Amino acid sequence: MASFVRVCSKGNFVHNRYLATVNGKQVAIFQIDGKHYGISNVCARIAGPIIHGDLDKHGYAVCPWHGYRYDPKTGKAPGGSPERVETFSILHGASGAQVIRKEA
Ligand code: FES
Repeated sequence: MASFVRVCSKGNFVHNRYLATVNGKQVAIFQIDGKHYGISNVCARIAGPIIHGDLDKHGYAVCPWHGYRYDPKTGKAPGGSPERVETFSILHGASGAQVIRKEA
């Protein structure tokens, strides 16, 4: 059974992003076109903080340390590159709260 954890409300988002900690893991939550997507905040290269990077014109989250990019929806790097980060599902609570669960 899925395990959901309440992590924040809509008002917690700054610049359409929020950094949550779930079961000891940092999760970068991005608000894109009214939906929310969660990926590990730990870059696959040498653990850069993805939440502090920009979203590029294609919607990829760019790691601020060396520029690795990840799709916030899939955790995958563009162009078939093997790098990827863990993804998390986001649900919307009745009060606008965000709830997250670890993907299997
Ligand atoms: S740590 Fe992310 S690109 Fe270097």
